[in-house]
Amino acid sequence: MTRQFFVGGNFKMNPVSREAKRALVKTLNDATLDPQTEVVIAPPSLYLIPVLELLRKDVKVSAQNCHTKTSGAFTGETSPAQLADAGIPYVILGHSERRTLFGKTRAALDAGLRVILCVGETLAEREGGRTQQVVEEQLQAVVALLKPEDWSRIVIAYEPVWAIGTGKVATSAQAQEVHADTRKYLASAVSPVVAESTRIIYGGSVTAANSKELAGQPDVDGFLVGGASLKPEFVNIVNARA
Ligand code: G3P
Repeated sequence: MTRQFFVGGNFKMNPVSREAKRALVKTLNDATLDPQTEVVIAPPSLYLIPVLELLRKDVKVSAQNCHTKTSGAFTGETSPAQLADAGIPYVILGHSERRTLFGKTRAALDAGLRVILCVGETLAEREGGRTQQVVEEQLQAVVALLKPEDWSRIVIAYEPVWAIGTGKVATSAQAQEVHADTRKYLASAVSPVVAESTRIIYGGSVTAANSKELAGQPDVDGFLVGGASLKPEFVNIVNARA
């Protein structure tokens, strides 16, 4: 089964001006993007609707987080139902900078959203040989609450914490090993069909320079890009398989 290549751009708390936000959207609107790649960008929540209104229609928009509840006294939070109502189809959950997985995933799926589910180990966990154990423990909380039909709306992002924002990208062999082991885990914990069809993407210091080799790995189905998503080279990462 071929899985559609997926490239997400996690802008995090950037850019800091509406002018810079418009410039980022223009770069994408003017770019030649591989039509075989699913492209999703995640601006700060303040910019979600303006970006949705300005952005080309073949690129999707994602929130960077959401609450578990539909509404209520949760200052500063955004509900999954509000995102769905605003026409925002994706949400990133479990990012190491906000690691909480359980409950939000169910709430987001119940609101009709698609979820980019972040997992990954710390440097100490890797050096201690616990990488796959940690990744599977992070997934277990979600596997237990998902129904088989939910998985078509899940993209798993393997983001080793030690590679996020550090310039220390995982080697292709490291990424392929964790992605392949994670797919094996899904085959046993959920089903072979879900394992084969679920996209497992890599995040952590992805750049135009390293994306082609990573994209060539059989179990690397795309990327979740931070810093480089704010630069023109993001287009090259989107086109890594073109
Ligand atoms: O969500 C993607 C992000 O955590 C990776 O950041 O800057 O290392 O590409 P960066």
